[in-house]
Amino acid sequence: MAEVVIVESPEAAGALVATEIVELIDSRSDAVLGLATGSTPLPVYQALRAKLAGRDVSQVRGFALDEYVGIDPSHPESYRSVITREVVEPLGLDPERIHVPNGAEATIQHAGEDYEAAIEAAGGVDLQILGIGTDGHIGFNEPGSSFASRTRVKTLTEQTREDNARFFDSIDDVPMHCITQGLGTILRARHLVLLAFGEGKADAVAAAVEGPLTALLPGSAIQLHPHATIVVDEAAASRLQLADYYRYTFANKPAWQGI
Ligand code: F6R
Repeated sequence: MAEVVIVESPEAAGALVATEIVELIDSRSDAVLGLATGSTPLPVYQALRAKLAGRDVSQVRGFALDEYVGIDPSHPESYRSVITREVVEPLGLDPERIHVPNGAEATIQHAGEDYEAAIEAAGGVDLQILGIGTDGHIGFNEPGSSFASRTRVKTLTEQTREDNARFFDSIDDVPMHCITQGLGTILRARHLVLLAFGEGKADAVAAAVEGPLTALLPGSAIQLHPHATIVVDEAAASRLQLADYYRYTFANKPAWQGI
């Protein structure tokens, strides 16, 4: 079972996950981070600014989960730009070591394979940060995605395009296609940390953590992972049947055991 940690706020979640990441970097200076975009991981990146200040992060490596296809990398909402703005620059990471899938149409046929090869060459992802879509997607693995899938092109659902329209001038500007790490790719990371905040994510979280394993709810793939941590606020935890047990377990967790 995944470990579920219910925290009082996104800021508390950010601090908890950032502490885990700092410990990882302290133990391995060239740690490989799996980076999510969207609004959910922002408190983690925010907390990391203070916690990493003064540390040598020059060797840290990273792989983003996904990118829109056909978007100019210099577009402010390309995931390349978002990762640069929210992660690389504020944390002082080496941009050469931070990878984002290549969404350029000219090379899209082999971009997935290239990305898989780069992750493998890096020795795999140590800690993968994940958000979850209201339709249960992780990365951009929309409902119907194979649990064995690798990095590839997907068509975004209308729901996801509507959810992401807030980052663009209008929904018409939200790309139709993306390139995303597959569920099989994500499951190979050594530690999954899925965050979710707010009532709007409560159904997706409950289905992912406690529902049946199903391609209809790609986030349920986390149940297959031996080390998955779900960090949610009260609102996002509100439909979890075993919420009291998760609170009890976390409150009684040995101090030496991280998340
Ligand atoms: C982004 C990603 C997506 C988002 C999800 C939730 O890299 O992989 O799965 O995590 O769409 O988005 P937010 O966090 O904006 O609610």
